[in-house]
Amino acid sequence: MIISGKDIAAQLRSDMQQQVDAMFAEYGRTPNLVVIQVGDDPASSIYVRNKMRAAEFCHIRSQYLHLSGEITEKELCAQIEQLNNDDDVDGILVQLPLPAHIDEERIICAIHAEKDVDGFHPDNAACLWLHQPLQTNHIASIYNPVPDYGCTIACTPKGILSLLASTGVELDGKRAVVVGRSPIVGKPMAKLLMDRQCTVTIAHSHTRDLPAVCREADILIAAVGKPKLITADCIKPGAIVIDVGINRLADGSLSGDVDFEACKDIASFISPVPGGVGPMTVTMLMQNTIDCYKRRQMKGN
Ligand code: GUN
Repeated sequence: MIISGKDIAAQLRSDMQQQVDAMFAEYGRTPNLVVIQVGDDPASSIYVRNKMRAAEFCHIRSQYLHLSGEITEKELCAQIEQLNNDDDVDGILVQLPLPAHIDEERIICAIHAEKDVDGFHPDNAACLWLHQPLQTNHIASIYNPVPDYGCTIACTPKGILSLLASTGVELDGKRAVVVGRSPIVGKPMAKLLMDRQCTVTIAHSHTRDLPAVCREADILIAAVGKPKLITADCIKPGAIVIDVGINRLADGSLSGDVDFEACKDIASFISPVPGGVGPMTVTMLMQNTIDCYKRRQMKGN
């Protein structure tokens, strides 16, 4: 069965729209997201446009700051600091990658952790790794199968948990293999699955006999950025397969990290590219923006 991230995302965004309207009725202001793009990378322009459109749909206010590719790191930090200090700004996102002369880690650290809607700030990453989800959950909502950690969780792994929840399959005790160890997807994904009581393996470019490792997986998450790396011999019959890769092929078409046609009849559930993880990532960005707003509102900002 194909997991339609597009359909699940559409449902979640409708729910969020109503939630934001209710917040406006209660507090007299809606969440406000600032999206910063530095330079003119064409792929970044598409991603940023998708984010702005999703915000508009959810009735989240958004501002697009398009800065010159020549901006210095210091100037960019000053711009971020101004937004950190602006009480009417709930979320700040700096689209990556940045031009080579700017240190991405320094920029990620410059964003106040409470406004870091990507969940990339070390305080947010540490919070995920050091803590279990909160038992008393102030900002839980019915559409969110991801428990509250009291901090911001990166959008893609969070969206994948929603996709897994949509299958109705119990995660407790399952073998999960995450292929890819990036700080944005692979590592947080592994921790979230561990917290859902999965036994987790992280595979990467030095893993020996990758197909054999993948065949252990009841849940296989492919997040490496290599088109069709995951072939039929990597899939245990009945496994759930989630494809995070978005790879542009020479002919201009998009391919995931999974050979979809070869794997779709072996898996019980499989997410396509496009229309799988991508729309969920953007949707979780909206949710993170709403959650940052709620936390700030609760603190009396
Ligand atoms: N570039 C590609 N994906 C992302 C993302 O999720 N967040 C940001 N800030 N930049 C990206």
